[in-house]
Amino acid sequence: MLQKTPYVGSPVSRVDGPLKVTGAAFYSGDFKAKDLAHGYVVSSAIAKGRIAAIDAEEALAVPGVVQVFTHLNRPRTAWFSSNYTDESAPPGKPLRPLYDDRVHYSGEPVALVIAEDFETARHAASLVRVDYVPEAHSTDLEEERGAAYEPPKERSSAKKPNDRGDAKAAFAAAPVRIDQEYRVAAEHHNPMEPHATTVVWVGDGGITVHDKTQGVQNTQTYIHNVFSLANSKVHVVSPFVGGAFGSGLRPQYQLFLAVMAALELERSVQVVLTRDQMFTHVYRPETINSIALGANADGALQSVRHEAIAVTSHHEDHQEAVVKWSGMLYHCDNVTLTYKLAKVDTHSPGDMRAPGAAIGVYALEAAMDELACALKMDPVALRLKNYAERDEGEDKPFTSKALRSAYQLGAERFGWADRSPEPRSMREGRELIGWGMAGGVWEAKFQKSSARAVMTADGSLEVAAATSDIGTGTYTILTQIAADTLGVPLEDVTTKIGDSSLPTAPLEGGSWTAASVGTAVQLACRTLREKLFQLARGAEGSPLANMDLEQVHFAEGAIVVTSDPTRRMTLIEAMRIGGKDRIEAEETASPDKVTQAGYSSNTHSAIFVEVRVDEELGAIRVTRVVNAVAAGRILNPKTGRSQIVGGVVFAIGMALEEESLTDHALGRFMNHNFAEYHVPVNADVPEIDVIFVDEPDELTSPIGVKGLGEIGIVGTSAAIANAVYHATGRRIRDLPITIDKVLLRK
Ligand code: MOS
Repeated sequence: MLQKTPYVGSPVSRVDGPLKVTGAAFYSGDFKAKDLAHGYVVSSAIAKGRIAAIDAEEALAVPGVVQVFTHLNRPRTAWFSSNYTDESAPPGKPLRPLYDDRVHYSGEPVALVIAEDFETARHAASLVRVDYVPEAHSTDLEEERGAAYEPPKERSSAKKPNDRGDAKAAFAAAPVRIDQEYRVAAEHHNPMEPHATTVVWVGDGGITVHDKTQGVQNTQTYIHNVFSLANSKVHVVSPFVGGAFGSGLRPQYQLFLAVMAALELERSVQVVLTRDQMFTHVYRPETINSIALGANADGALQSVRHEAIAVTSHHEDHQEAVVKWSGMLYHCDNVTLTYKLAKVDTHSPGDMRAPGAAIGVYALEAAMDELACALKMDPVALRLKNYAERDEGEDKPFTSKALRSAYQLGAERFGWADRSPEPRSMREGRELIGWGMAGGVWEAKFQKSSARAVMTADGSLEVAAATSDIGTGTYTILTQIAADTLGVPLEDVTTKIGDSSLPTAPLEGGSWTAASVGTAVQLACRTLREKLFQLARGAEGSPLANMDLEQVHFAEGAIVVTSDPTRRMTLIEAMRIGGKDRIEAEETASPDKVTQAGYSSNTHSAIFVEVRVDEELGAIRVTRVVNAVAAGRILNPKTGRSQIVGGVVFAIGMALEEESLTDHALGRFMNHNFAEYHVPVNADVPEIDVIFVDEPDELTSPIGVKGLGEIGIVGTSAAIANAVYHATGRRIRDLPITIDKVLLRK
């Protein structure tokens, strides 16, 4: 465990904040280079078929146009689709951009126009004529659900969960039953920073790649595999990421295109996707959830069945853990969980904040609310009645689980006891008021990670790892951990991340970075501490002579004898006396395999929501949210709170606004802009009250951290939907709950 020290646990402001608000933080599309050429992507207008011909003559004739790349003149790249795979790829055949004349989905890149400036490239792209031979396509999950199948090859993050007991028989025998279908629409990633890659040609076949990514080393490996470029020739540098939420886990096609063009033209190339092109890659898959719950009259769950059918592409079996949560959130002896995919002619879906759980836990928690209504039982009481003391899905104990306190503290803060249970029973003027709640759960993971710590003669400390900060506060928490471990002021610490040449780190995803890279930084700093101590103790006449490491502590930039704080030596002195300009330590933090196999580690939450619904207009406003989170040690309550607030905002979008609509005749996402694809804006976001529940956890990670990036969204959309039911008496089971559904459906 970390010692109790000044920084960890305090609401330290983002150390990278000043850089961001002054514009000094560079994002991938901000980087410039000498002779930088700009690429603009031409996207397929059909959903499926063949390219018969491409006429680029008119585009090439535009002054300033350098080249038009298509499958016809694409430089040689790797042949096999397996070369295009990456750390986060699901089973299947990753897309190979500009590979041949086949079109797999509407919006697939079919050409890249390179020009001296962006505007010229964009104009010329409009002049590229593509003749297609369309083939019949299907983008409709409803049409394809009959052909749904259980994925033959599992994605590691979506292992098939265990069944137990006999859910069918128990359901048939249960006196109280709910059996319903819950749907979640496709949603697209819309981080502030679009996908962008700037490839800087450094000569001699070498490139520096600024890529919008959650994994600089994943990008590097992809380039190595696709372009047969030695890692020494590819330096990926991505210091800042303007939000990613899963969209940057896998290399996106602008990376391929920019690198391809740069290597062929032997000059620097930048490719930035437009906001509408952001709708041509990863999205949260539309998913149908069938949930059947059976309970006794006292509320005890007798049976849980959850079957999900999610869309995927024809080329990959994208998989998410949608149903497993239904086998672990509650105590129940009879559980059947099924997860199926249905292929449609779109690009592969991808991970989006709490992939799987955001969908599956919405459905489960909406069904639990229906069960509570059928039982005439308070929704919190129903959950406490069925509280799971261990992970019955995996048949393992939890490393820790403070969900009970989350329910209690959340309910108290919200004032849940004052709720009148009948739907439509609370109103103010023409507004119906609804109070709903739900629970959330997400996996807490600790992944193998390395980090380096370097101290220089002036006492400044640099810690480094090849992770990213996707807006989560990674820079800040790593700086806090390093400063505390060596007892130096925050200002003396520099954290370097987002660079492929730094010590190996996993993708910045799954909410595991704080626990994993945080532990690695602590380890490296501890080794550095030992080295400094050896230097200090070995000095002639050292005030630390005959001391052991256990007898001293590091504080105020010095090594201090704990029993006699007047005996001390500053770190700068230790370096000087030891004759060192620089000392360095690199360490790898690896999870304890036995612990990981023996326990189930998760974060939990209890969310309480108030909505107000205009009875005549059907307009829904979320007016209050309390999200009580149990996530182990909170390194920084300020950046931590930001994560939960962000997750809640995502959930408001998911519950009420966000929906990628497909024109099935064209096989295309239609509303690919911010006018028609609604994300919550400030006016949609109420005061969000975040509670961090005390949850000591010694098992998930050595620093007691579980991670916060994703738990904020999980269950929150269910709490909103349940509040809408409580307000209106209308149970809308397909998200988003838009005005038309509230007004027109019974
Ligand atoms: Mo997350 S969806 O692993 O960025």
